[in-house]
Amino acid sequence: MAALFIVTAPDGYSGSIRMAVGVRANQSLAGVRVLAHKETPGLGDKIDADKSNWIQGFSGKSLQEPAPAAWAVRKDGGVFDQFTGATITPRAVVGAVKRTLLWSQQHFATLFTQTATPIPQEAKP
Ligand SMILES: Cc1cc2nc3c(=O)[nH]c(=O)nc-3n(C[C@H](O)[C@H](O)[C@H](O)COP(=O)(O)O)c2cc1C
Repeated sequence: MAALFIVTAPDGYSGSIRMAVGVRANQSLAGVRVLAHKETPGLGDKIDADKSNWIQGFSGKSLQEPAPAAWAVRKDGGVFDQFTGATITPRAVVGAVKRTLLWSQQHFATLFTQTATPIPQEAKP
């Protein structure tokens, strides 16, 4: 069981970065992928799974590991690498993933613990 969030980081170097963030019922990340962005080729575009494996570093992470304060790029005191000469883009992605985890933590009961209701059989004419 996992929830898939389609979220936007509004604060990329060149505007919005659209992402898919998968959160498991144990509140860890199933994975993150960038769906659309306008970041600079060779700099910010390393967030794209086709360009580097940086985005794969989120898999398995949660607000327990690392702790919330460490959800930042290294330059800001966190555990996530920035890119050489490009900190703005990864900072935006890390922030959006962290906000997604916080939101899913706040709405945990709604997302993961409601029991499934059977779909009623349609009345036959
Ligand atoms: C033409 C140009 C394109 C840039 N593209 C990006 C980008 O896509 N992502 C990014 O984070 N920084 C980009 N930068 C660099 C930023 O202006 C900024 O210097 C950098 O993100 C800050 O990181 P730093 O403190 O590690 O240098 C670009 C700079 C220039 C001149």
